[in-house]
Amino acid sequence: MKTHDLVKEIIISEEQIQNRVAELATEIRNYYQSIEQPLVLIGILRGCLPFFSDFMMKLDMECAVEFMYVESYAGQTEAVIEPRIKFDLFGDIKGRDVVVVEDIIDSGKTLVKLVDHLKQKQPKSIKILTLLDKKSKRTAPIEADWFGFEVPDHFLVGYGLDYQEILRNLPFVAIADLDKIKALENKS
Ligand code: IMP
Ligand code: MG
Repeated sequence: MKTHDLVKEIIISEEQIQNRVAELATEIRNYYQSIEQPLVLIGILRGCLPFFSDFMMKLDMECAVEFMYVESYAGQTEAVIEPRIKFDLFGDIKGRDVVVVEDIIDSGKTLVKLVDHLKQKQPKSIKILTLLDKKSKRTAPIEADWFGFEVPDHFLVGYGLDYQEILRNLPFVAIADLDKIKALENKS
């Protein structure tokens, strides 16, 4: 899908994303140069999908992959519920170095919940990688260890981010057209 009627403005192009993902992969490989067991990447579904895949393919080191599904938005444009873990890891991460891979950090509530949950599994270390960071929206005491881009406080779509489960497969990150979304919502 090249673009969509609900896209108002592209703020990060496909090329910018791919270049930044390559930089992050190099930085993170260098950081974990001397670990003994393969790094565990934990993708937070569903938004992480394109970033997780592109990042993993550029990461030139051994890694294992795990996924979790945390529900925090319920398809709306604002977080309406407390984050809930709906789907947990399959594998054991005890004693392992793990990197949580997120699409975006907004309030930080999802991550606080996740990190508390993962700590109980006694990994050796937990770091956080996010493609996008809405730093101005943070209310919870948590920061990413690595982020791709700082983004303004708008409702964003594309490259994993959805509006009601669509638009995740746009290759760029864009500001959604909230006027059009509201008009659609008033119709239904
Ligand atoms: P937080 O708990 O407020 O940090 O919310 C994080 C989660 O909300 C992310 O993992 C996304 O799934 C979702 N989210 C936050 N901002 C946006 C956005 O602008 N568009 C789509 N999803 C978003
Ligand atoms: Mg998410």
